[in-house]
Amino acid sequence: MADQLYDFGMIGLGVMGRNLLLNLADHGYPVIGFDLDAQKSNSLEASATDGTIVKGVTTLAEMVHLLKTPRKVMMLVPAGKPVDNVIESLLPVLESGDIIIDGGNSHYTDTVRRVKYLEPKGLHFMGMGVSGGEHGARTGPSIMPGGDLEAWHNVQPLLEAVSAKVNGEPCVAYMGKDAAGHYVKMVHNGIEYAIMQLISEIYDLLKRGAGLNNDELHEVFKQWNEGELQSYLVEITRDVFLQNDPETGKRLVDVILDKAGSKGTGKWTSQDAMDLPVSIPTIDMAVAMRDLSSYKDERTAAYALYQADAVQAQIGKDEAIQLAGDALYFATLICYAQGLAMLHKASGELAMEIPMADVVKIWRGGCIIRSTLLEAFYQAYSKNKALPNILLDEAIAGLIKQKETGIRRFLTVAAESRVPVGGLASALAYFDAYTSAAMPVNLIQAQRDYFGAHTYERIDKPGKFHTEWGSNE
Ligand code: 6PG
Repeated sequence: MADQLYDFGMIGLGVMGRNLLLNLADHGYPVIGFDLDAQKSNSLEASATDGTIVKGVTTLAEMVHLLKTPRKVMMLVPAGKPVDNVIESLLPVLESGDIIIDGGNSHYTDTVRRVKYLEPKGLHFMGMGVSGGEHGARTGPSIMPGGDLEAWHNVQPLLEAVSAKVNGEPCVAYMGKDAAGHYVKMVHNGIEYAIMQLISEIYDLLKRGAGLNNDELHEVFKQWNEGELQSYLVEITRDVFLQNDPETGKRLVDVILDKAGSKGTGKWTSQDAMDLPVSIPTIDMAVAMRDLSSYKDERTAAYALYQADAVQAQIGKDEAIQLAGDALYFATLICYAQGLAMLHKASGELAMEIPMADVVKIWRGGCIIRSTLLEAFYQAYSKNKALPNILLDEAIAGLIKQKETGIRRFLTVAAESRVPVGGLASALAYFDAYTSAAMPVNLIQAQRDYFGAHTYERIDKPGKFHTEWGSNE
């Protein structure tokens, strides 16, 4: 009897790779998986749903031999050298026309390099963002493929089957040329960092400034998640406050050390934004605060020196909760505005042709930054796909104006309470600057020309000008 042939191969059977593969199998596709760790390959079949066709193998050659042509091979391995290693080990066994997909969080410049390397060898290479964590991978992630169009058309039915669905529509779409898939995922993660930073600041003010305990915080996030603030990150925050630590009997959140980790995608977003250039100060602040959190010893010494305890907020709990909700809504919207403006700019600068309406459409479900707001952004880009910034859309302006007074008042309370709210403050500052027809940088231009003869432009006539400053003293 001829060997059973498989539709899709996965290299890297960590929790994401394994779950995505089992998800494909649940949708009727025979799948095959390989991992350098033979134990992971051997245990794959045991975790499959009854009646599905799943095979684990311990050599790449065996996997390739058992795949239908053109072969569709995806890797979910750590970004960097491991991706290049997998590519090198595939080269001797794959054939022209086969498809390699990198589903990890690779830096987009690596993806561009890999496309160029594999194209002359006749291999299709696709960089693809996958969001949703381990649960999302198993039940329906948001998927951001980009690059090789032929490869996309080939895998489109499979990806549509496994992705999350919103109103029956799959949360996967072609994100544009070259490394667009990984670029969109990078910015997704930058927004993820920023929203998480905002939520942590809101938590800080409500806890230390307004005196809410974990049960009260749980209730606040529960109510928010049932209204206009509904989002995956608000939803999981709601649950975090109730989780107990079996070792101490305390709430787990109170036992977790205040040092944030990161794998680098937030930093990449900030670095690339500065290269474009485009302003994403709330994402920058989120990266900066994670970095600052790692200086625990210095912070502890500074605390002893300055006796920097939070001061009780001069408002009641109910008002604090109301203002916090407005501030979170306003600033969250601004995080998306910054990230989406970055994608718009990068799409042009890097010639990726990113379809903005599709980006926000597939972020509505499955991914970490899914929220009710995405529907409003989808409407905005559906009206004008070339919108440089969602803040220029009238309906979005209506949403933001309702919360403006609340965030201004919230920031005053936070400053008086000595609670650091750099992310929230940066969101308002971005809004105030972006909506200013006149920024104070005329003064910066004067200073630059004063000390460096860098020249300036004038408001009343064209050209570049230089002045011998100081002569009017
Ligand atoms: C997702 C996430 C995921 C990311 C983690 C860890 O969309 O599922 O963005 O891809 O890797 O959230 O990120 P950090 O370790 O950098 O916080």
